[in-house]
Amino acid sequence: MNAPAPDAPILFFDSGLGGLTVLGPTRALLPTAPFVYVADYAGLPYGKKNNEELAARVPALLGRLVERYQPRLAVIACNTASTIALAHVRAALDLPIVGTVPAIKPAAELTKSGVIGVLGTEATVRQPYVDDLSARFADGKTVLRHGSPGLVTGAEAKLRGEAVDPDVIARAIAGLRDQPGGDRIDVIVLACTHFPLLQDELQAAAGPGVKLIDGAAGIARRIAHLTEGQPWPAAAAPGVAVFTRSDDRPPPPLAALAPYGIGSIETI
Ligand code: DGL
Repeated sequence: MNAPAPDAPILFFDSGLGGLTVLGPTRALLPTAPFVYVADYAGLPYGKKNNEELAARVPALLGRLVERYQPRLAVIACNTASTIALAHVRAALDLPIVGTVPAIKPAAELTKSGVIGVLGTEATVRQPYVDDLSARFADGKTVLRHGSPGLVTGAEAKLRGEAVDPDVIARAIAGLRDQPGGDRIDVIVLACTHFPLLQDELQAAAGPGVKLIDGAAGIARRIAHLTEGQPWPAAAAPGVAVFTRSDDRPPPPLAALAPYGIGSIETI
């Protein structure tokens, strides 16, 4: 493959603002990388959709976005879309695609009690992909799962500067802890890119004996590895955030996105 032009962006894709938790560590490694951040607000929440819908929607939308923004690489910064549609996207598009999978492998290496919690969307936690990861990397360990749509809403609210309902946080942790063996959980995988936005709230509810982990740093390293040796602009330019049009969910104020290096918002 020819080297991309220095201004060819990295495209980050999520249903909403969760993918910012992947954009952040990526910018720390590649500070001048141009980027486009896409939130599919017309489709949010993905966690409530079925596999057929997402397997059709995500590749079609990404196809349009790739044509429009000509990225050098696309990141599906969403566990739900990745666990369901990654293979479809790779089959449909001719550019490197980085996915986001639940960090079960590092969790299995970390746990001392042998009981891991996986907190994701309802769609992610029921995927066979999660069974496969558990069988491959957490053999002999107990992997308890819970789907929490409330945390997605809470994370979106927090980023807009709105209050997060403490009951939502408590219910998410209880959803794991109240399962048989749940009191022995010592590592929780945040298997939805929205959830690290609520890291402090979730850590306070889980208590100091529980480690929360997510895959963002690993994804950032993977992006840096795949783009190694490629040309980049000499200085960082502000990124653009693109929202698919939704009647009941306007994009957040630009000030909420500015800390991530975003300088403008487009709606498509
Ligand atoms: N951020 C997405 C994920 O990582 C899901 C949010 C949603 O339900 O749309 O799974």
